[in-house]
Amino acid sequence: MDFLPEEIEGYSEQFSAVESDLLAEINRFTNAKVLMPRMLAGHLQGRVLAMLSKMISPKHVVEVGTYTGYSALCWAEGLADGGRVDTIEVNDELQSVVEAFFAKSEYRENLHLHIGDAGDVIDSLQAPFDLVFLDADKRNYPNYLKQVLPKVNVGGYIIADNVLWSGKVTSDPRNMDEETAALHEYNELVTDNPNLDNVLLPVRDGLMIARKIA
Ligand SMILES: C[S@@+](CC[C@H](N)C(=O)[O-])C[C@H]1O[C@@H](n2cnc3c(N)ncnc32)[C@H](O)[C@@H]1O
Repeated sequence: MDFLPEEIEGYSEQFSAVESDLLAEINRFTNAKVLMPRMLAGHLQGRVLAMLSKMISPKHVVEVGTYTGYSALCWAEGLADGGRVDTIEVNDELQSVVEAFFAKSEYRENLHLHIGDAGDVIDSLQAPFDLVFLDADKRNYPNYLKQVLPKVNVGGYIIADNVLWSGKVTSDPRNMDEETAALHEYNELVTDNPNLDNVLLPVRDGLMIARKIA
């Protein structure tokens, strides 16, 4: 769900940098050919992710939930010299699509797709991580937080998408479905952790930005 009125979202896109030709191609392809195209970050959020990456200049990004590769390419835009994005996708039917898009990218040498369950793949990746992007199965967000936190550098970031879950996180916790409850728990875990500084940005479906401070 978008929390912004359509005309405000359109205006914000109009006055944000345009998508690259490759990102526009992925956007079009995903909307025409892939199930649940709503999962793709899209123009405005993609520019937010790319700008965050340029501000942080991470050497090592770990993305949980590749889908068709849109957000991985956005993260790649801000990598430090020689940096890498490890992106994890459980759906092997997307592998050839993502690899074909990555092959067209100027960042192809920096992009590494891992097909498998994120819970397993994260532990096979060499730490430390400078930036982790959570954008996969919502029920596991609290588990992913516990799993990645020791692997993130002090000064590094954990950024999670969909933490507002169309506003459902504001409902009575006794009536929350499993995904909403997990996202609400994630927001509590991040906010209550004295080793994290955080802000919840109501961009698109909610981006929780957490910085490891100790
Ligand atoms: C919201 S989409 C990711 C969108 C992508 N980050 C973007 O903005 O372009 C979520 C993806 O996570 C994948 N996924 C779900 N559970 C997963 C798991 N346990 N491990 C890895 N990927 C998973 C889904 O197959 C789906 O492609």
